[in-house]
Amino acid sequence: MKVLIIGSGGREHALAWKISQSPLVDKIFCAPGNAGIAQIAEIVPIKLEKNEQILKFALENYIDLTVVGPEQPLNEGIVDLFIENNLKIFGPTKAAARLESSKVFAKEFMKKYKIPTANYRTFDRSQKFEAERYINENPVPIVIKVDGLASGKGVMICESKEIAIAELDNIFVRQKFGEAGNSIVIEEYMIGEELSIFVITDGENFLILPPAHDYKKILDGDIGKNTGGMGAYAPVPFVNEDLMNKIKRSIIKPTINGMRAEGIPFKGCLYFGLMLTETGPRVVEYNSRFGDPETQVVLPLIESDLVEIILASIENKIKDIRLNLNDNAAVCVVLSSHGYPDNYEIGKRIYGLEKRFQDILIFHAGTKLDDGEILTSGGRVLGITSYGSKEKFQQVVSNVYAAVEQITFDGAYYRSDIGKNVKF
Ligand code: AMP
Ligand code: GLY
Repeated sequence: MKVLIIGSGGREHALAWKISQSPLVDKIFCAPGNAGIAQIAEIVPIKLEKNEQILKFALENYIDLTVVGPEQPLNEGIVDLFIENNLKIFGPTKAAARLESSKVFAKEFMKKYKIPTANYRTFDRSQKFEAERYINENPVPIVIKVDGLASGKGVMICESKEIAIAELDNIFVRQKFGEAGNSIVIEEYMIGEELSIFVITDGENFLILPPAHDYKKILDGDIGKNTGGMGAYAPVPFVNEDLMNKIKRSIIKPTINGMRAEGIPFKGCLYFGLMLTETGPRVVEYNSRFGDPETQVVLPLIESDLVEIILASIENKIKDIRLNLNDNAAVCVVLSSHGYPDNYEIGKRIYGLEKRFQDILIFHAGTKLDDGEILTSGGRVLGITSYGSKEKFQQVVSNVYAAVEQITFDGAYYRSDIGKNVKF
């Protein structure tokens, strides 16, 4: 098979790495890719937003299977477009991808199907006064989320009513988020451990991949600004069989069945962002795709052929698949550019990539090849993953940091506490 991967981050490098191990695959293309992906795939220089151009490439090059990494192409209907052209593609349709692209849709869906989540109300631009009243009548912290996609910046945890009302002004009056802020969700602040769970589904049956924990904040100790993710580990030791069954019964099944009942079955990878609260697991958000960096620690735990699983999702055969996992745990540390998640410089030469490390995978996120040299080209630059026996997880963590210390570039930054307090 010829496989096309869409995207250019660590997630896509991890997908390319795993897909390249499938005996079903002869050749991998990746659009637009990065310098690391270029070592296993042929890079196709088409930008993400150009669904029509990607389709043309797939048709002209007889691509047998397309795998979509990021949310934008999904929300712009790339799956619908490929299906109309009789091409195989992994991911949800535009309508099903609304679980991620519209927070209002996701919350109303959860309410309708009694899926546990934070209590909330939705408001549109014409309801600014109602929204203010709601803020005044509810306890702080209170959470405001813009409805549409906002590159991870559309969630505001407001510590006071004054801050919340100022945010309302930013969204509704100053239009800081443009159309994404035409409507909002205001919801209860939840307390608990966060967990990411990927489910591969054909719209009816599903496979649950090992749970992961993502470190979203920029600084050690989970403080500072939110980022796309500064590291991750998987699996998560406190998720025992009982808890997983509860998550499956109260959250995963009703979500998959609810989407089918709505007439928009979700096919692809559905990402459940969960919070384990005092009253049980609740949904923080859905994503309509694999998460990053979680993918970089989840895929190394899978022994099964990912391409077989992906084809089963497309062809409604998930019930025939047995998911084989190894007994390892994995941890990923992200190296980012100085200044990320705000402004940062790019074009720095990266040193140490030629070194060979044991039980280490280096996934590129923001890199590019320039005259034979690998340079930084993004905020998150590399994800370094180590894997090994769960029982010796702290050795796995030491191993990843030993590698991290040998790979560097001007202004390289990483958190030093990823996986550190985790015991299996
Ligand atoms: P989201 O984009 O919805 O995942 O929100 C980003 C992050 O904000 C989440 O990973 C949580 O850490 C935090 N967050 C979102 N909603 C809530 C909530 N209702 N209560 C507490 N934290 C939240
Ligand atoms: N790691 C969170 C995300 O992929 O959205």
